[in-house]
Amino acid sequence: MATPAHSVDIDDLGARAETMIMALGAISAEPTRLVRRFLTPEHRRAADLVARWMRDGGLAVSEDALGTVRGHLKGSGPRRLLIGSHIDTVADAGKYDGPLGVIAGILAAAHFAKPGKSLPFGVDVLAFGDEEGSRFPATLASSAACAGVFDPARLAQGDVDGTTLAQALAVYGKDPRQIPAGAYPRGDAAAYVEVHIEQGPVLEARQRALGVVTAIVGQTYLAVDLHGEAGHAGTVPMNLRRDALAGAAEIVRLAEELARDQREVVATVGQLSVEPNATNVIASRVMLTLDLRSTLDESRRQVAERFRSEVRAIADRRQLGLTITQTRDINTTPCDPRLQDLLAAAVTRIAGGGEALRLGSGAGHDGQAMARLCPVAMLFVRCRGGVSHNPLEYASPRDMGLAVATLIEFIGNFDPK
Ligand code: GLV
Ligand code: MN
Ligand code: MN
Repeated sequence: MATPAHSVDIDDLGARAETMIMALGAISAEPTRLVRRFLTPEHRRAADLVARWMRDGGLAVSEDALGTVRGHLKGSGPRRLLIGSHIDTVADAGKYDGPLGVIAGILAAAHFAKPGKSLPFGVDVLAFGDEEGSRFPATLASSAACAGVFDPARLAQGDVDGTTLAQALAVYGKDPRQIPAGAYPRGDAAAYVEVHIEQGPVLEARQRALGVVTAIVGQTYLAVDLHGEAGHAGTVPMNLRRDALAGAAEIVRLAEELARDQREVVATVGQLSVEPNATNVIASRVMLTLDLRSTLDESRRQVAERFRSEVRAIADRRQLGLTITQTRDINTTPCDPRLQDLLAAAVTRIAGGGEALRLGSGAGHDGQAMARLCPVAMLFVRCRGGVSHNPLEYASPRDMGLAVATLIEFIGNFDPK
């Protein structure tokens, strides 16, 4: 195995990463589950903790108009390597999805902040707050703003309580008029790299601690709103009902069948809200979401089209009012081949095991937005059982230490030109 140019104590890095994971994982809106949504008091507390770690690591800290915490390490050249991930979570989340990438970035940048070390480029560690879309319908607002592709129309989108993004920003102490100023000038950002747990079983099955991501999956989100008629559960005959929930049940089955027919596509209806949601009342309204993914953009588009037309047919047959709104549509994002090779070489030097394993990402990531600014790369870390979006999510301290050491190795060999 070639000798790493930047020797570090892997177990020490892993132990520090785990302590930090546990500290962030304790910041939640609820006592028994990890829930940390964008622009909430919990987001504030997590951002403050991350900012403290950045300062302790020798980074200069700022926060932009979407709440992204930025830790900057000055380099001798004008360009910057961006390293990031997110600190928001899904409801009842695990502790590693997102925070690991932020923590790895801080530990790696802190390594180069030590006296006697200097880099020919700056490093910015970014802690984004809106990757999961667990508060507002669209996701990646914070990374889109950094990339200079934030759509101001999103400011009017509301959360489940009707609070718009603009209102939530105001409560968080932010001024949306400052959003454009936070975008990186194109020439400044040399690349974006993210460490993330795999959230799938491939690395574990192949007995690898780390893997290099080839591409991030394309995604379409559709919000389906069905209007029927409320009625008495005991008195309205079955043939005279306009039951929005019975229609929704057909639609959930449809999503599963379409994805099963078209291999390479996965479809999930993960959210359903029912009105009035009572045992003895026929449902008058149901809203549901469809999350459709594939690394084959054409297959994803075809399934989305069939879904729309068959949902229309279901609604017509059942005499239900229908609106379908597309809240997200993003093509597959390839990771930069040159950065993949650089990461792969770092993985081999640090973790051994020969040629690094390369794999696609079925999960969405901030890199999808950052790719509109600069080349992107991702390093995946094995997680137990491939389990994620689940409190049982786990990555070992050793694997996390290997990931941070690999990131340090990558930074040390990165050429910003
Ligand atoms: C984010 O984790 C996503 O892939 O939905
Ligand atoms: Mn994530
Ligand atoms: Mn996630």
